[in-house]
Amino acid sequence: MTTAENQSIALRFNEATKLQYINLDNKPPLYKFYPGLRAIGLPDVADQPGPQMPTLAAIRGDGGSDHTGPLTLEQLTNLLYHSAAVIRRRQLNDGEVHYRAAASAGALYPTEIYVVCGDLEGLRAGVYHFNPRDCTLVRLRNGDLRRWVASAVGDHSAYPATLVFTTVFWRSAWKYRERGYRYCYWDLGTVAANLLATANAEAVPVKLNFGFVDRMLTGYFGIDGVTEAPSLVASVGTPDGMLADGPGDVPGALPQESNDLNAGAIDYSMSAQVHAASPLQTHDDLANWNRATAGLSQSEKDELDGTGDVFRPLRSGTDGMFDADIDLSSLASAPLGNCVRSRGSTRRFSREPMPWEAFRSVVDAAGRGINAPGLEHGYGSNLGLYFIVNSVEVLEPGAYYYNPFYTGLRLLNAGEFREMAGHLGFEQALPADAAAVAFITADLNTIDRDLGARGYRMAQTVAGIIGGRLYLGMHALGLGATGLTFFDDSVTEFFSPHAAGQSAVFVVPMGVPGSPNRVRPFRSQVAVSLDSRARGAGQGG
Ligand SMILES: Cc1cc2nc3c(=O)[nH]c(=O)nc-3n(C[C@H](O)[C@H](O)[C@H](O)COP(=O)(O)O)c2cc1C
Repeated sequence: MTTAENQSIALRFNEATKLQYINLDNKPPLYKFYPGLRAIGLPDVADQPGPQMPTLAAIRGDGGSDHTGPLTLEQLTNLLYHSAAVIRRRQLNDGEVHYRAAASAGALYPTEIYVVCGDLEGLRAGVYHFNPRDCTLVRLRNGDLRRWVASAVGDHSAYPATLVFTTVFWRSAWKYRERGYRYCYWDLGTVAANLLATANAEAVPVKLNFGFVDRMLTGYFGIDGVTEAPSLVASVGTPDGMLADGPGDVPGALPQESNDLNAGAIDYSMSAQVHAASPLQTHDDLANWNRATAGLSQSEKDELDGTGDVFRPLRSGTDGMFDADIDLSSLASAPLGNCVRSRGSTRRFSREPMPWEAFRSVVDAAGRGINAPGLEHGYGSNLGLYFIVNSVEVLEPGAYYYNPFYTGLRLLNAGEFREMAGHLGFEQALPADAAAVAFITADLNTIDRDLGARGYRMAQTVAGIIGGRLYLGMHALGLGATGLTFFDDSVTEFFSPHAAGQSAVFVVPMGVPGSPNRVRPFRSQVAVSLDSRARGAGQGG
């Protein structure tokens, strides 16, 4: 007999176990906007050629002295545009698709940007939200409110402007569920990589701060710190003296609410928990964080113990080991402006070899210091960079570890690993066809012990910055790259014993683009074998 009760459990069960290709009904909006606020136009930088410094030099931070004059609105706009704005629109059968300056997993773009500035020529002091769709601002607050952000970051230098990056978690969680939390920070990293390169090319000093008192920023921007939370603060320009101590007046409510970014959101409790554990609550927490992160980038002079090591330096002067110096002028590296505007994720690689000059100059640039406290000299010993080399001139195919201290590659295991690369990269053809695949790893146990959940956020973001630099560098040389997801523990296993204790945090295949530029179906021999074992092969007795 069917009772109301068991009917209801049956229906609920059926609902809970439904499969669906994708649920467009609760897809979050791509853009945050404030319906009642007027858009403020910015200089039309899209119509200009953009920063002309060669991209590799911009990634590396070459280029002489920083600009010391006042920050111009055009420079600020260039930073915003080349970090996060819509750079291309394409009309597809189902509507228009917008592509942005930096790559984002699933094209979901969870990062928002706010600007806090003093008076700039052409822009009144205030707090603004950046709209990447048409590269405009809306004013959320009037007046010079920089003291509040300065206090949150613990740096009272009077930077002309500060960019506050926030993350709207549901945008990524909608597709990637709990794992979406990680994607949010990788995506933040690709935006930050573009920002740092643009800042170098524009000779505008930019400093990233991973440490700040989170709750001081939430009220300021009218966000709750849960569904949208501050994730990175970038100080922009040369300080013009010091701001008064203390945060100043507590900000009131914003004059206007935004559209609802969280409608239909599904609660992913583990991401919520890890996020809740990550804020710095007080200035004492901030001071502890600053102490714990100081000098993170001093990598240890490890490795190279065995006499039989095969080691390939990337550049000269690295502790007695020499290759010809990297000569950027010999490389046809596109200007940064052109590179960002034409960048796109490579959907197919051709299997052709990558020139050694391209590989070594891009990897060297990607591994350089990041202008953030503790990371000035490199990404540090808590992160690792491994490669599967399929086809790079000069290098024997195999598995490599990049040693940041010696700036060189150590061969861990020679061999042909295209099938394995495709498998590790979530059974996708891209890493199988790429010339080389970068695997960024992190020692999450040490990070968790020393820096807690905030350190976890930072590690994911720094991995995204390295990945974003690889993207830009490859594209600038007429090659290609793409971000990629991966089978976590299989990556560690593949690079072990060297990678024992490391966790994979981001993967970037790089190589010669193939045609058509469309994803190729793929199934590796590794998966064929695993599938047959899953069906019982080998268990028959
Ligand atoms: C963190 C991250 C992970 C990504 N993962 C994949 C992936 O697994 N497979 C893939 O084909 N593309 C992947 N991409 C590329 C995105 O799909 C791509 O950036 C997005 O569609 C926007 O297109 P564009 O980069 O060409 O502007 C990834 C990108 C990022 C930043």
